[in-house]
Amino acid sequence: MEKISVSFKNNTEIKTDNAYAPLVQRLLEYKKSPCTGFHIPGHNRGNAILNSFREVIGHDALLVDTTDEFDNLGTLHPASGAIKEAMDLAAACYNSRRTFFITSGSTISNLALAFGVISPDDEIIVARNSHRSVLTGTILTGSKPSWLMPKKLNDWAIYGSICPDDLEDKLKNNKKVKFVWVTNPTYEGVVSDIKTISAICRKYNVPLIVDEAHGSLWNFHDELPETALNLGADAVVHSLHKTGGAMTQASMLHIGKNSCLDEAKIEHALKLLHTTSPSVLLLASLDAARANLSSSQGYNLIQNAIENARFFRKRASMIEGVSVLGENSNIKTDVTKIFLKIKGLTGKRLESVLELDFNIEIESASDEGILILSNIGNTRAEFEYLLAAISKIAKDDYPDLSHLENVKFMPLTEPDVVMSPREAYFSNKIRVKKEDAIGKISAEVIALCPPGISVLLPGEIIKADHIPYLSDYSEIEVINN
Ligand SMILES: Cc1ncc(COP(=O)(O)O)c(C=O)c1O
Repeated sequence: MEKISVSFKNNTEIKTDNAYAPLVQRLLEYKKSPCTGFHIPGHNRGNAILNSFREVIGHDALLVDTTDEFDNLGTLHPASGAIKEAMDLAAACYNSRRTFFITSGSTISNLALAFGVISPDDEIIVARNSHRSVLTGTILTGSKPSWLMPKKLNDWAIYGSICPDDLEDKLKNNKKVKFVWVTNPTYEGVVSDIKTISAICRKYNVPLIVDEAHGSLWNFHDELPETALNLGADAVVHSLHKTGGAMTQASMLHIGKNSCLDEAKIEHALKLLHTTSPSVLLLASLDAARANLSSSQGYNLIQNAIENARFFRKRASMIEGVSVLGENSNIKTDVTKIFLKIKGLTGKRLESVLELDFNIEIESASDEGILILSNIGNTRAEFEYLLAAISKIAKDDYPDLSHLENVKFMPLTEPDVVMSPREAYFSNKIRVKKEDAIGKISAEVIALCPPGISVLLPGEIIKADHIPYLSDYSEIEVINN
């Protein structure tokens, strides 16, 4: 196989076989010469499955739908065989000390980190815009989060970056803090100064965990932001299935090169939380994504995604009434995540016009704008079509609809917290009408997905400000006292 040389951001010149993927290779061999199997899954390589389902996913996918431990593929827990080789290659690519493959999304990566390293009653600093899985981690462990508020980008109705000084103030004032947990980038692509944040954490001797779910491409291209793995983070989570080209639910959990975390504890937590029947298809898709991204082909795909994003951003922001986050401002964003708004339309309305009139589906919509991803799989022609649609919508008269205006997305309020998430979650609760919940203590996590950031935390006092953001709820679970 041809050897190529790929230069990653950590300045290590890694020699890699072009797209060598051991687990994919092993599955290919298995597909060509399968054994006679008497084990799960019971459909036995697609022999016993609904025909229409076979038609949907194709017989080849069923031929290789198996789990670890069978067919000489190796095992996930403990890591062995081709699965271990694939994880080691990923660790080398991402500059980590150890990389774990996860088949249940970054949700499980975050839970394993919480369960693996955080103890009951630990005081931790958590960014308020964290995904609900981080919050679930605090419920599981019983830790006590102090919420770090990112900047509020009020014109866009979203959270922005984390101010390193705010973190330092918190660490200065509370010597008992055991961990700092931040999300970077934000869902809409806003990037924080992780280099400074990491230096502050080191100064106070507190480990840093970075949920970099949306940054799995970063280590493969100089024009993308720096991954926290190269900036001293102790653990980093990557949702390869989001932008890295892996199949849905496939994620990686990395332990930093010089991490002070005990990786045996994290591995143990993973064993407890992870499925005991990991899909080899998902594991192989992680191996394939890593091999693809680190090959010259992957580099070209990322380059195209960046160029397409630049092409679209520049032209879209020149259309009257259209604004693009990060263009004409000093807000730092990942160029491939394009948050856009059109004057006079809510994001939700814009999303529905794109869908109904142009058959275009975007990543998500909020009060103010829509999120468009320039993926490694998108073409320039697709972006030209999107640009034409945005231009037409901005010029034509598309009045907003009042019922859509009522859908509120994310309150940027400082949470008024009176008990720990775990204490609140396990308290005696009752359901009350949301209007009657004002002044009471929330007992549940309410988070709209995407982006999965909680509107209400368990243990937080419910205020009138929250109510417009709870349009999907008629009742809320509150503490019964
Ligand atoms: C920042 C962040 N972390 C974690 C997750 C959870 O990832 P998954 O859906 O892969 O479980 C998400 C999902 O949207 C996310 O946005």
